[in-house]
Amino acid sequence: MQSIGTDNIDSKEAGNLLRTIVIGRLEDLPVGSRKTVELTKEREIALYNIDGEFYAIENYCPHKGAPLSEGILCDRVIECDWHGWQFDLRSGECLTVREKVETYEVIVEDGLVKVMI
Ligand code: FES
Repeated sequence: MQSIGTDNIDSKEAGNLLRTIVIGRLEDLPVGSRKTVELTKEREIALYNIDGEFYAIENYCPHKGAPLSEGILCDRVIECDWHGWQFDLRSGECLTVREKVETYEVIVEDGLVKVMI
């Protein structure tokens, strides 16, 4: 797990103040890799590189709080390891019950993988 350092950049997009956080170097996040990033004590992001496309979602399952970064990945769906709820990484929608996890935009810039929060 990575904690956020001081290399964050603030930017304005669509009228909202968004923060861009650097997750890591592109070369350190190869296809098939996952990474958990701690934003605060109670907030984490799970990042996945699937076939060269990055997806970032809130790490905690809304059911009982399991870390989704440790779930079972099938294509672009992550299945929670504890009770099997499934989430589409593209939308954050739960495919099992009427729930959702937050998704975050991921950008690759200058060899760095960044998430907008
Ligand atoms: S904690 Fe994820 S399905 Fe129960």
